[in-house]
Amino acid sequence: MKGKKKGAGTHKLWGGRFSGGPHPALDAVNRSIGVDFRLWPHDVRLSKAWAAALAHAAVLTKHESAQIIRGLDRVAARIADGAKPVATDEDVHTMIDRLLHEEAGMVASRLHTGRSRNDQVATATRLWTMETCAALDVLIIALQHAMIAQATRLERAVMPAYTHLQRAQPVSGAHWMLSHFWPLQRDRERLAAARAHSASLPLGSGAIAGSAFPIARARLAKSLGFSTISQNSIDAVGDRDFIAEVLFTLSLVGAHLSRLAEDLILFGSSEFGFVRYGDSFSTGSSMMPQKRNPDALELARGSSARMLGDLVALLATIKGLPSGYNKDLQEDKRTLFDAADCMTLLLPAVTGSLEALTFDVERMKAAVTSTMMATDLADYLVRKRVTFREAHGAVGQLVREAEERNCELGALPFALFRAAHAKFESDVMSELSPSASLANREIDGGTGPMAVKRQIGAAKATLKRNI
Ligand code: ARG
Repeated sequence: MKGKKKGAGTHKLWGGRFSGGPHPALDAVNRSIGVDFRLWPHDVRLSKAWAAALAHAAVLTKHESAQIIRGLDRVAARIADGAKPVATDEDVHTMIDRLLHEEAGMVASRLHTGRSRNDQVATATRLWTMETCAALDVLIIALQHAMIAQATRLERAVMPAYTHLQRAQPVSGAHWMLSHFWPLQRDRERLAAARAHSASLPLGSGAIAGSAFPIARARLAKSLGFSTISQNSIDAVGDRDFIAEVLFTLSLVGAHLSRLAEDLILFGSSEFGFVRYGDSFSTGSSMMPQKRNPDALELARGSSARMLGDLVALLATIKGLPSGYNKDLQEDKRTLFDAADCMTLLLPAVTGSLEALTFDVERMKAAVTSTMMATDLADYLVRKRVTFREAHGAVGQLVREAEERNCELGALPFALFRAAHAKFESDVMSELSPSASLANREIDGGTGPMAVKRQIGAAKATLKRNI
């Protein structure tokens, strides 16, 4: 212990101008360390870089800077070893400053030269966000891999696609599966953009007007892995756009997971019977012994609401703020961490649920009825130069006929087809097969067997590429 040791109960980053200490009620509401403690590795890192930058600007001697940097390393080691905040540690920055005084002595008091917690917290939060965006991306990729694996298994499976949750047209099972892949790919692009916007360095902005010392900010940015520096100190200390972008992206990932979950929850019901949940991702009921519940999927659907709430809370916090830093901004981390934590739990649970489930391809196929090929019948007539409107009317007549007889289109006698339109010939019956319907849709992005093969290839190639 070097220099004068301050009592652990008295360490403060401010207070000189006040006669007494703050009221306990103020302390309680002001204290953010319960939320921001996790920023400590980033705060240590940026503080070391700041100490180096102060020496580079000749504000600190090389020796002082080295003492501070070594002290910060010891602080990091203590926290990693389990050092806990004390009652007067208002936030993580205060705690690290206190520990640095314990480790390095009075030289620690030189570290805060030319910086403020305003640019400090913005920098630490951005570092955390950059790291977390990268970690979340890895989790999304894992889910995308699980989707490709299931799509490959389902390539030849045929199932109904639904519009308005009514049986619409037959599709390949892989086509359905990959309809959930591409939204996540767009989310990855959004996450990469949010990460890129986080990578702008606020440090050097001071409290609001910029640091009074000649810090080489571009150099500092580079040393911390930022790609650029902020251009306006007032903006830099109050800018939380990067958090809003992450929260929007996570809300959208949440919405996408929720839609996948909803499909799988429906498909797992006895009424559909398309999927069976794996044992390791099913829960039972305390009362009904037969139950096999998809809780992880239901929680994916449920907790996406919370992430949306986080986004709304942050936007509402920012909306009415005057420029510069305002203490309201302390709330930003609550929303950011909550949404990121939520997603960090959800993604592996959804990935696991998807990997563990099995598809009943017979049930999927059995759900495809010949009436779902009504559009194919109309297309058949169009190929014979009938207008689509007229063809739609003729097929509509057949559908009504089938409904009256309580049968599917394929069970109607050929004579009725002929009666509905003279251009129907005996080969029309083959149009009513799902495989013919699929084969007609080799268009890029369609559900034809070759198109789906290309799509699976495109999905794999996408994951090999870096965004
Ligand atoms: N704990 C604060 C936060 O998260 C740090 C910044 C405090 N700045 C200040 N001027 N009181 O926003």
